[in-house]
Amino acid sequence: MADDKKAPAGAAAPPVATPVADGLTRRQVLRSGMFATVGAFFGTLAGGSAAMFWPIKLTGFGGVVSVPKKLNEIKVGEVVTVREGKFYLTRSEEGLMALYWKCVHLGCTVPWNQGAGKFLCPCHGSVYTLDGQNVAGPAPRPLDMMEITVSGQDITVNTGKITQRSTHDPEHFTKVG
Ligand code: FES
Repeated sequence: MADDKKAPAGAAAPPVATPVADGLTRRQVLRSGMFATVGAFFGTLAGGSAAMFWPIKLTGFGGVVSVPKKLNEIKVGEVVTVREGKFYLTRSEEGLMALYWKCVHLGCTVPWNQGAGKFLCPCHGSVYTLDGQNVAGPAPRPLDMMEITVSGQDITVNTGKITQRSTHDPEHFTKVG
């Protein structure tokens, strides 16, 4: 009996899956590669998304910074420089101030001058008192202040909470015992 399904003369033979390695066909190898690529893509996407929603612990400038001295170690009239938070913690009879060290004129860093007992801006000569009040030079207002929290003898400053003020007010001090 003749075979009805015989290919016509001259027709190409149907493709045959050829093993390329360890019995895997080319199609299986390509499929595995595709799945690996798609898996890597979604893995990266998921990792990035998870990182985006992970709470970031802010330290340094922009976050809450600890003052390296205890409250009872800071004398009246003293200025503690806290580089990590870009501020000065000052203590006067009225209480504590945390002053952002950026000059409110054009942004220079204002150093404390112990001899003068003032903050003296080296750029254009603005002068500020211990509590940040501008008393000379082109600065239009006092140094900006940051929020202070006192817990026992520990002092922390929220450097992400900077307040501008048009003039110094006794209300700006954080009162301590
Ligand atoms: S930047 Fe300080 S006085 Fe100009």
